[in-house]
Amino acid sequence: FEQDIEHRPLYGKHVLVTAGPTHEPIDPVRYLANRSSGKQGYAIAAAAAAAGAKVTLVSGPVHLRTPLGVDRIDVESAEDMAKAVREALPVDVAVMAAAVADWRTKEYNDIKIKKRGAAPPALVLTENPDILASVAASAKRPDLLVGFAAETNDVVDNARKKRKSKGVDWIVANDVSGDVMGGNDNHVHLVKEGKVEHWDPMTKQDVATKLIEEIAERLNNDD
Ligand code: CTP
Ligand code: CA
Repeated sequence: FEQDIEHRPLYGKHVLVTAGPTHEPIDPVRYLANRSSGKQGYAIAAAAAAAGAKVTLVSGPVHLRTPLGVDRIDVESAEDMAKAVREALPVDVAVMAAAVADWRTKEYNDIKIKKRGAAPPALVLTENPDILASVAASAKRPDLLVGFAAETNDVVDNARKKRKSKGVDWIVANDVSGDVMGGNDNHVHLVKEGKVEHWDPMTKQDVATKLIEEIAERLNNDD
């Protein structure tokens, strides 16, 4: 964006982005995690800041540099992420790109679990809170709430269901059947209220720019 900051499309708006995986501790030396690199969420935070927004980025453990002009809050577990998100509200827009771990261990062992020479330990899991759904149901629900849906099959159908069941405005449906996790490219479908936009495969950076353009258009048409 070439314009002075106050002429940029998201000037005066506060955008919350979540990104990366979460780590669910098992004991002091072990955790459960997933393959998310955080690249897509970081690119969205960078694009929102470039568009003039105040940006809060709640980030799971990743190996990425903080984008310029972005206020980054680091978290480890899904429960920590839920708390950081609650504390960041209210915002005008939230884009929840994090790959939140669906489960955590039911009981954390505060000392290292030892091999016992017999059977390996059984990990008992419990479901994590759904951060996106709770933001949607909150009294501080942002004007525009965007979720992601990581799918390997029936991508758009599953994303449509998630949009409804979670009570969000848009879902970026992410086809993760290839090497999307960790890669630089992404193939997404933007599931909106009445329609679905099928975007060509492109870099995560281009997905971010296009998504921020659409968000700015939507906010500026509502004002
Ligand atoms: N999400 C969340 N909290 C969770 C799980 C997911 O906020 N505990 C958010 C993600 O950040 C994403 C959206 O919900 O924006 C969809 O995540 P996804 O993993 O695709 O959906 P789930 O509801 O977890 O369903 P499943 O993994 O079983 O397909
Ligand atoms: Ca999930």
